Amino acid sequence: MSENPPPEPDVSITVYPGGPLIVRGAFTLQNADLEPIDPRRQVVALCRCGLSRRKPLCDGTHALSPPEANRT
Ligand code: FES
Repeated sequence: MSENPPPEPDVSITVYPGGPLIVRGAFTLQNADLEPIDPRRQVVALCRCGLSRRKPLCDGTHALSPPEANRT
């Protein structure tokens, strides 16, 4: 009996230092009321800094914040 390797994940999430979370793959995006948000693509950037005017998506505003504000 051989063990099969674990399946490849359908979604990957990458922490962009000082910026957003980059989500790639076959994901669904929902608001707090579980209503779908159409990301219009299979790669999105989710805001981690709280400054975006397009939350939950990153609009690049993090680049205007001090670097020490978003180090992780
Ligand atoms: S992480 Fe880009 S605007 Fe917040």
